This record gives sequence, structure tokens and C-alpha cells, in this order.
Amino acid sequence: MALPRVYVTRRIQDAGLNLLPGKVDFEVWEKDAPMDRATFLEKASGVDGLLCTLSDRIDEELFSRCPNLKVASNYAVGFDNIDVDEATRRGVLITNTPDVLTNTTADLAFTLLMATARRVVEANEFLRSGDWKTWSPNLLLGQEVSESVIGIVGMGKIGQAVARRAAGFSMKVLFHNRSPKPEVEKELGAKQVSLDELLKESDFISLHCPLNDETRGLIGEEELKMMKKTSVLINSSRGPVVDQKALFRACSENWIWGAGLDVFDEEPVPLDEPLLTLKNVTTLPHLGSATVKAREGMARKAAENLLAALEGRRPFDLVNPSAWKE
Ligand code: DGY
Repeated sequence: MALPRVYVTRRIQDAGLNLLPGKVDFEVWEKDAPMDRATFLEKASGVDGLLCTLSDRIDEELFSRCPNLKVASNYAVGFDNIDVDEATRRGVLITNTPDVLTNTTADLAFTLLMATARRVVEANEFLRSGDWKTWSPNLLLGQEVSESVIGIVGMGKIGQAVARRAAGFSMKVLFHNRSPKPEVEKELGAKQVSLDELLKESDFISLHCPLNDETRGLIGEEELKMMKKTSVLINSSRGPVVDQKALFRACSENWIWGAGLDVFDEEPVPLDEPLLTLKNVTTLPHLGSATVKAREGMARKAAENLLAALEGRRPFDLVNPSAWKE
């Protein structure tokens, strides 16, 4: 019997790819850049399974080119690149890669928090450009992290991992979450509050919610104006959760102290993006899960989820359980 046909849209780690030979007939896009849309549609056409990334738009147009598609296995925990409702209507299973990147992403959020609070990137550039003339009582003063208040928006696994790190800095933890989380309040000594209260009370705000219709533009002008002038906004979730134009005004007109961003509206972020001109904004190229260990874990999970779906087993990380038929 012919093996199921699979397209892998990027060269992921061997830890995942090595699970595929002999089980599926697969092709990998070898270039280290996403393919254009027309090439993607052509390559994916007629496949039974896709192993894709957050750079690939998985929508109605794609589904209509793949009438036999059984699964789109996303190499990411977020899946806002996929029209999950349409997939479910068509009975296509969607999977993601949670857990293996929880600590990694929380570490990165905390890195951005510390770097922005203590002006690490700005200070590095200051030194290397020869501007450091003397030690000074007032040189590059930052914001104190220890014993400050952190507000976490989205208290899923990554938000909770950030709260654990904050506890090590004796921070008071506030959080905002769509559903009540009394167990998290108890276990982490954190307090669930309204978004307004969190914005007003926090010294650091870290975003960990998924991108969906409810969270798109969640942090806009009104919200940024509620924040303390000394506060820092960290976004390692998805760019469109924050109104980027409003954030530029907030950081350039000192409504807030600064921001640390791993994600943007458009990625790669265009070099003429005004936020890139600001010293109080720390920027990274979407590195939340970028460690060897996490990426190997993601590759393994993505391959295992793909194979499970194609072999008729329920994938472990099923995003749309209602598409599953025994
Ligand atoms: C994810 O998994 O959603 C991350 O953003 C990828 O780095």
C-alpha cells in the first residue's frame, strides 16, 4: 500500500524528521526561508498530511487544494496561522507542540523583562560606541525588578512559568485570565484581577495569551495610558495582541518606561518600523522557543502528532478534538 504523502514546510530538527522515513512519503522545503504562497500551494497540493510552521497560512484556499488532508501538524504552540474552524468543518485534525517550550518561552520573556528594565542593549551599545567616559551615579539607571509587581495576561502554562520565575525575584504576581484560575492563585500566591486593575497596578506586564478575535488589539492606546509611567510591557505572545502604533506613542512620549518585544505585527519586522528607533524598546526576532532542547522537542512532537493522525491514532496534542472520529 502506498505511504501517505506529507509535505514538511521547513527543515526542522532531525529529532523529528528521523521519525518519518518508512512511515510516510515526504518532501521537505530545504531552504531556510519560507516559500512564497504559490509555491506552498503547489507543493502542498494533494497531500495527506502537512508539517507546518507559524509562517504558513493554513486556510480555506489551502484546504481546497488538499481534499485528502487529514492533519496539519503545527511546529509551534500557537496556531493563529491556521483557520481551525474551517479545518474542523472539513474534518482535518490540527495539532500543536505545547509543554516542550513552556520553560524556554518563559525564560525568554524574563530575559526581555530584565534587559528592558536594566537597559542592557542600550548600555552595550553605549559602551561599544565609546560613550563611556566615567562611572557615574546617574549612568543608565533602570527600573528595579525585585519586589516589584508583575501583571501576567494569560495564565496558561507559559504565564504560570513566568509567575514562578517572578517568585524568585520576590515579585507580587497579578494575573488576568479569561476563565477563573483559583488553583493558580493558591499554588502560586498570585491574585487574579481585571485587566484594568492589572494595567494600573503592575510595574511589569507580560503578555501570554493566544492571538484570537478576543485578544487582537487587546493592548491599545487606552490600555497603555492606564499603565504606570515607570512600567514595562513585554510581549512574547503574538504581535497583533498589541497595537504597535499606539505602543510607539507610549514609548516615545513616555506614557510608559519601555517595552520588550519578541513578536511583531509583521515578521520579519520591516526595518522602517518606528519602534526600532527607540532606545527604550528591546527587540528580538521571535526567539521565544529558540533553544536546541525546545526545538528538538517541538520537532519530535510535531512528527509524532502527524504520524498518529495518519495512522488513525488520536494525536496527543489535538487542538480541535471535535474533528476527531474514532
Ligand atoms: C510558538 O510555538 O507559538 C512560538 O511562538 C514559536 O516560537
